[in-house]
Amino acid sequence: MKVLVVGKGGREHAICWKLSQSRGIKKIYAAPGNAGISYIGECVDIQVDDLKGLADFAQKNKVDLTVVGPEMPLTIGIVDEFESRGLKIFGPSKEASLIEGSKAFAKEFMKKYHIPTASFKIFSKHFDVLDFVKSAGYPLVIKADGLAAGKGAVVCNDVDEACRAVEKIMVQKVFGAAGMKLVVEEYLEGEEVTVMAFTDGKNIVPMVSSQDHKRIYNGDRGPNTGGMGAYAPTNVISSMIMKTIYEEILEPTIRGLAAEDRTYKGVLYFGLMLSKKDVKVLEYNCRFGDPETQVVLPLLESDLAEIFINITEGYLNIDKIKWTDKYAVSVVLASKGYPGKYETNKVIKGLEKVTENGGIVFHAGTRRDDGKIISNGGRVLNVTALGGSIKEAIKNVYELVDMIEFENKYFRHDIGWRAQKGVNDY
Ligand code: AMP
Ligand code: GLY
Repeated sequence: MKVLVVGKGGREHAICWKLSQSRGIKKIYAAPGNAGISYIGECVDIQVDDLKGLADFAQKNKVDLTVVGPEMPLTIGIVDEFESRGLKIFGPSKEASLIEGSKAFAKEFMKKYHIPTASFKIFSKHFDVLDFVKSAGYPLVIKADGLAAGKGAVVCNDVDEACRAVEKIMVQKVFGAAGMKLVVEEYLEGEEVTVMAFTDGKNIVPMVSSQDHKRIYNGDRGPNTGGMGAYAPTNVISSMIMKTIYEEILEPTIRGLAAEDRTYKGVLYFGLMLSKKDVKVLEYNCRFGDPETQVVLPLLESDLAEIFINITEGYLNIDKIKWTDKYAVSVVLASKGYPGKYETNKVIKGLEKVTENGGIVFHAGTRRDDGKIISNGGRVLNVTALGGSIKEAIKNVYELVDMIEFENKYFRHDIGWRAQKGVNDY
């Protein structure tokens, strides 16, 4: 079987890595892929928003299955384009992807189907939202309706911050058309957890839970980033809490989407907030999470290609999804200065030592030049290690991280700290 993976980040490298272990896979293409992927597959220079180009490529090269990493091609209809040509593709349709593509839609949807979430109001006029935030209680959260590369949600502690957020999103239009509408919502306190799930639109099976570390500095301080590391499984979600999540969130979401004629096939990502009294949905994503995938897929024992095929054919075999009982931790190695200004073009050394010592390196911002691997982005690499306990996985990963060298290497030293300190005792 030939597969095409769409995307170029650490998440897509993890998908390709896991697929490369599938029995039936003979060839992996990635569009556009990255330097790490180029060792296990063939990278083709087609961008993720070039839907026709991607479908032409799949047709011409007789690709048996396409797997989509990022949200953007999904929300603009890559699955519809492929399916209209009779090509097999793993991911939700354009209609179903609206669950991530529009926060206003997602919030109205949750309200309609009684799925627990923060209370909210939706605005499309800048004066109305300014009026509202002037008399609201704080903190509150302001979110651009559409896709904003993970930067569209602002936690506001007072009215000045709220007005600045409104100005930025609705007047300066920093996220373009994504800011035509705004969601203003109640600020939730608790522990943030990710539950990704495989679904064929009728059945839904959660993967092991995970937590990412979005802030740049140790202790979850400083500005948000695309993710500085992750670990799985968490100790936040007991089997009793998972049962509640399944019954009150996962199942009603799938049923609701089907009832809205938006039957969802693919991976559905639930960003959850756990408090001592309940669990609420913070956000849905219509895809695998990044960097959560870099810890979750290494824990999957089953054949990923088989799962993808079953789902695209509309039949998810629940018994086929098996997990190891190990823990995984992934640390992002970034270029110093990220998420602000940073330097690139630094030669990376020591990658082979990580693999020799049982670790996995997933590339994000790298390029290959004359046999060398060179840094080419803010988040450069993800180093993942497994262990019999979270403590062991953390120890293992940090030993591996020290084996990699490049100028201005920056990483957090405390990935997994929430699990270690026992703060997850819900
Ligand atoms: P979103 O774009 O909806 O995923 O939000 C991005 C991040 O903002 C989340 O991962 C949370 O850390 C934070 N956030 C979003 N909504 C809320 C909320 N209602 N209460 C507290 N934090 C939130
Ligand atoms: N880790 C957050 C996301 O993938 O959106």
